[in-house]
Amino acid sequence: MKIAIVGQGYVGLTLAIGAAGAGHTVIGFDINTDLVLELKQGITRVPGVESSELISLIDKKNYTPTNDPTNLIGAEIVVIAVPTPLDINKNPDLKYLEDASTLVAQILTSDTLIINESTSFPGTLRQLIKPIFDKKNKFRFEFASAPERVDPANNDWVLKNTPRVIGGLTDKAADRAASFYRSFCDEVHVVSCPEVAEAAKLFENTFRQVNIALVNEFAKVTHSLGFSTHEAINAAATKPFGFMPFYPSIGVGGHCIPVDPTYLSYYADRNHVETEFIKLANQTNLEMVDFIVSRISTELNGNLQGARIQIAGIAYKPDVADLRESPALTLIKKLNDLGSSVTWFDQVVVTDLPGRSTNLDSNIDLGLIVTPHSDIDFSIWKDKDLKVLDLSVSKKDYCLPKYL
Ligand SMILES: NC(=O)c1ccc[n+]([C@@H]2O[C@H](COP(=O)([O-])OP(=O)(O)OC[C@H]3O[C@@H](n4cnc5c(N)ncnc54)[C@H](O)[C@@H]3O)[C@@H](O)[C@H]2O)c1
Repeated sequence: MKIAIVGQGYVGLTLAIGAAGAGHTVIGFDINTDLVLELKQGITRVPGVESSELISLIDKKNYTPTNDPTNLIGAEIVVIAVPTPLDINKNPDLKYLEDASTLVAQILTSDTLIINESTSFPGTLRQLIKPIFDKKNKFRFEFASAPERVDPANNDWVLKNTPRVIGGLTDKAADRAASFYRSFCDEVHVVSCPEVAEAAKLFENTFRQVNIALVNEFAKVTHSLGFSTHEAINAAATKPFGFMPFYPSIGVGGHCIPVDPTYLSYYADRNHVETEFIKLANQTNLEMVDFIVSRISTELNGNLQGARIQIAGIAYKPDVADLRESPALTLIKKLNDLGSSVTWFDQVVVTDLPGRSTNLDSNIDLGLIVTPHSDIDFSIWKDKDLKVLDLSVSKKDYCLPKYL
């Protein structure tokens, strides 16, 4: 089938390569001309997408990255995978989705199945996307929702073996979408309507957000009592039923956990339903940085002013280049505001944020492990026996001052 995928970021590119690898002819459309230029040269920053694979699929004409929307014409299926962030007031910002839908609706010249993979609140497909097509185009379209669950840099759960939830506006749409996803996904779970699929996606990430908040709160308790959070969590995790371990950190980042629960609470608010639990969890995770700053201050005997602090890894999680909503950015700002001299080393992210070091330094008062990308070499900190606080989610001692 000819498939067009609108948005070639983490989600869209992963899908494009999966679908192209399964033998479909895939058009990868993005408005970012620099990104398209890079993709054409086989350059990718999306974990799990290899440059060699990209080049081979382009050579075989299974995959064509483009910023020319006329290439969408003739696609049997158009999948939309564009950002759905929060706006300045921390409300859902659906402008990318609206713009992408408008552009696609204006260009298509035949009946097509439109699938939305972008995360949004229930009703987005039916009440936002479909009306745009109805208004802009005389052709008859089918619509389905298939929210993406990709977990960048997770090598165990990938596009193929992560079950896909699908809800169609009609049975025909659901069947067509299911058959497309079955061509490269092991398991497809069809639900009764798009709203269920949209809600399930938000609930999955809200579940994580709430549990992360709970464990972050637990970390404060164990710290005040003077024992290891990780040891306590690992002890609880020996229970073979009814418990799932989560680990504390400086907060949550990326395009999902800090954002999706707000889409759910926004939707609930609109329907006059209280979601205090979600809002409290969000607040708890945001406040974690303040707790960390006080921990750092204790480590430095209250001498934050002028302290030379270096952070290892500022992305929101290891081995991804994504800086969106990364709590490391808030930590850097707070420490700088308190007069510390903060540098950071991260060989994965691409950013012009000030304070970058090209290596881990030994000439520091405190090292902070925030996002330990797998190839960071900590030997310089180890060899010099520097004071280091491990704030990462990795299963290490967390609440006591930690030396590597
Ligand atoms: N990143 C994740 O781990 C993840 C996981 C599951 C779901 N999601 C969801 O998937 C969606 C996409 O997220 P992402 O991480 O891939 O975002 P991204 O920023 O990595 O990629 C989105 C791409 O869409 C492009 N774009 C924006 N407007 C466009 C338009 N009108 N036409 C064509 N291209 C356009 C951007 O240039 C960008 O390259 C979001 O709703 C997100 O919540 C993300």
